[in-house]
Amino acid sequence: MAIISSKPQPPEPDDLSQSELFSDGISKKPSGKRIPPNGKLPDLSNAKQPLLEPEAKPEERSQQEERLRPRRLSEYIGQKDLKEVLDIAIQAAKVRQETLDHLLLYGPPGLGKTTLSLILAEEMGVGCKMTTAPALERPRDIAGLLLGLQPGDVLFIDEIHRLPKVTEEILYAAMEDFRLDVTLGKGSSARTRSIPLKHFTLVGATTRVGALTSPLRDRFGLIQRLRFYEIDELLQIVLRTAGILKMAVSDEGATEIARRSRGTPRIANRLLKRVRDYVQVKELGNLTEAIAAEALERYNIDPLGLDWTDRRLLTVMIENFNGGPVGLETIAAATGEDAQTIEEVYEPYLLQIGYLNRTPRGRIATAAAWKHLGYTPPDSQLSIL
Ligand code: ADE
Repeated sequence: MAIISSKPQPPEPDDLSQSELFSDGISKKPSGKRIPPNGKLPDLSNAKQPLLEPEAKPEERSQQEERLRPRRLSEYIGQKDLKEVLDIAIQAAKVRQETLDHLLLYGPPGLGKTTLSLILAEEMGVGCKMTTAPALERPRDIAGLLLGLQPGDVLFIDEIHRLPKVTEEILYAAMEDFRLDVTLGKGSSARTRSIPLKHFTLVGATTRVGALTSPLRDRFGLIQRLRFYEIDELLQIVLRTAGILKMAVSDEGATEIARRSRGTPRIANRLLKRVRDYVQVKELGNLTEAIAAEALERYNIDPLGLDWTDRRLLTVMIENFNGGPVGLETIAAATGEDAQTIEEVYEPYLLQIGYLNRTPRGRIATAAAWKHLGYTPPDSQLSIL
């Protein structure tokens, strides 16, 4: 199992066998300016790594998974500033006996938007109805949900940037005046009726806050970003989950999992479960750092948590475009990945760890990325750092 070393490797001559490694369409033609990759080439031959995809998998929405979620704000690890803002909003709303203001949560997937929404409802002692914007296709879908809300309830709409226009327009009056405007009849006999709604809190979640229309965005009283988690926060999350799963884990073993989790709790919990499988099947007992590293290497998870797609994106930038600048659409076309997925799912973490820069002229793979993948950065790239 090839794991890419983050340490610089001794240079090796470029040869045909290395070009053949790029047989999946990344780079058939070595570019004239290509710096000979030194040491190991990234392992691009294996399939995509679903373990590192930050979106929830269907089985992760099961009842059993629900017990891993923190239920109260005090149990929630990380997002310190956001927790403080929410805590104040909750306390103020309770004192005034009002519903919470509408809240928009944005940030990369897997960071806890759904969990926070459930926590808000729990803290306020109200119910939480959950849906996703693409499911609200017809006016009656959103009308049914709104009419079913109890006083103070939280209505969670995931991927809110994907709301169909008709649904979004119904939400305006619902959010602002707690009123449902319905049109009865058709043509010249059509009449509009307003139905009063119970006061509720809309929690919208999105990975693309910029894609929201301003009338919708302006109706949220609180707009908050979730950021990637630090290693020590992920460590605490892994230890907490291990406790719930009754797993014996050393701090070092949990740290190794945290380090490879791309700053994302959902991935940390998923890796922990895969490591648990490994330990159980191999009858290894306590989860030490060495065992965690060994297990994760078996799953082909890079020491920094980079997966096949990250490595492919960076490798294409380096191999085909000499590290950039290169436009998003060009990267998408060269890799066969969806531009929006690259932008929303892959780039945020690569930006966070300093492997990618966004410039007006396009994306640039930084010198750190070149080195991580075993290439020698050109001088022009070094001056960027
Ligand atoms: N499980 C997943 N995310 C968590 C968090 N932020 N705090 C505690 N447990 C978690």
